[in-house]
Amino acid sequence: MEENQIEPQLGERIGRRIIFFPLPLQGHINPMLQLANILHSIGFSITIIHTKLNSPNPTNYPHFTFHQILSEFDEYSDILSLLTMLNEKCVEPFKQALSELLGDKSGDPIGCLISDAILYFTTDVAKSFNLPRIVLRTGGVASFLTFAAFPVLLQKGYLPIKDSRLEEPVIELPPLRVKDLPLIKTSQPEKLYSLLHNMIEETKSSSGLIWNTFEELEQPSLTKLRQDFPIPIFPIGPFHKHFASPSSSLIPEDQISSISWLDKQANNSVVYVSFGSIASIEEKDFLEIAQGLASSKHPFLWVVRPGLIRGADWLEPLPQDFLDLLNGRGHIVKWAPQVEVLVHRAVGAFWTHNGWNSTLESICEGVPMICMPCFTDQLVNARYVSDVWRVGLQLENGNLERGEIEKAIQKVMVEKEGEEIRERVLCLKEKASICLRPGGSSYEFLKSLKNYISLF
Ligand code: UDX
Repeated sequence: MEENQIEPQLGERIGRRIIFFPLPLQGHINPMLQLANILHSIGFSITIIHTKLNSPNPTNYPHFTFHQILSEFDEYSDILSLLTMLNEKCVEPFKQALSELLGDKSGDPIGCLISDAILYFTTDVAKSFNLPRIVLRTGGVASFLTFAAFPVLLQKGYLPIKDSRLEEPVIELPPLRVKDLPLIKTSQPEKLYSLLHNMIEETKSSSGLIWNTFEELEQPSLTKLRQDFPIPIFPIGPFHKHFASPSSSLIPEDQISSISWLDKQANNSVVYVSFGSIASIEEKDFLEIAQGLASSKHPFLWVVRPGLIRGADWLEPLPQDFLDLLNGRGHIVKWAPQVEVLVHRAVGAFWTHNGWNSTLESICEGVPMICMPCFTDQLVNARYVSDVWRVGLQLENGNLERGEIEKAIQKVMVEKEGEEIRERVLCLKEKASICLRPGGSSYEFLKSLKNYISLF
């Protein structure tokens, strides 16, 4: 094909429909809907299949068609049970949905399915309809390669983790240490290993792999990925910077109070604190965070999501004298318009759990990070932030102490180390912007993705 035929262009219709199936969790819905928007903008029609659980709001996306599947779920006690159940209980309803959509000849013909990597069951269903399946992995490449290395890590005795080895380097996966291995606390590790095995194998057997990352950020990992996964690979991120997408928040964002409070703060003075949509913390850690923020003397915007504190509804554990002491220096919301917050001139640092979306969003706005990973890929992301890209520093989770918190905030906000971190993250921000311009890596990969899907 001629180069100019594959130029991503708004408005040019391709005459192909793509079916998307996101994993129904905030950190997965956001990038999947952003990707759907990107592909819509270069001419594809879009259908989103979704569960009733955490259903996206269709009114924000009048240009998409939504198709809810009738899956019934049991109660689940943890994230691992939910992921396993989704792969078991969605099979028949998903089959039914595909059958209806493929049988409807009134619109554009369906070119392919794009499903979340964790929804590995979709491989067999797509195959039964002869429908190509492309995988979207919503996390980073480095953490994915770590998941892919689990069989080796088990064989070499790194897993299951022994407390005595936490600080040891994992020589097969530098710069990771044993404590950075992306695990989830579970009494059934076999269930986790099996889920990851299926995710990896069904990704390998897919027709292609899309990433919300960019070549300049994860080049060595992408090189290794290309060796181990000989399928077409499209790193076309950062998705949310292609253009502004409608919100896909499952929780209402406290837009007005967050931004108007930030408007009153000095440039680069605020610590933004958020631990994403799933992580939870003990009450004693929550109180230590509060005290650390109070004694740091810096203004802070803190997202305390209902459910963040184990055993509490919301802010009840906070003593009244803490709230009095703040006197406007801190602002607490249930959910913030995070990207808008990170763009704001007042924000000087992001204390984050290092979910991949948060990590990427922070990099894209040139905001230094204080890393407090909780579980799974967050541990790997945080190690890359602190030791590879050197755009943040780590705060040890599980051992939170107000004095340490205060020191970390000082380091990032005031000291020379923080200044150097800021310079490096601004440099990465620039790279994240360049890769989306004509000739940039993500721009060019998007052109080849468009070509590739158009041929199905
Ligand atoms: C989950 C996993 O925990 C994470 O490790 C994995 O990489 C993706 O799935 P989550 O914990 O929610 O995600 O974190 P993250 O990936 O950072 O996604 C959170 C999303 O919610 C981000 O896009 C962020 O902008 C948004 N958000 C978060 C808000 O809009 N408002 C908030 O107050 C907090």
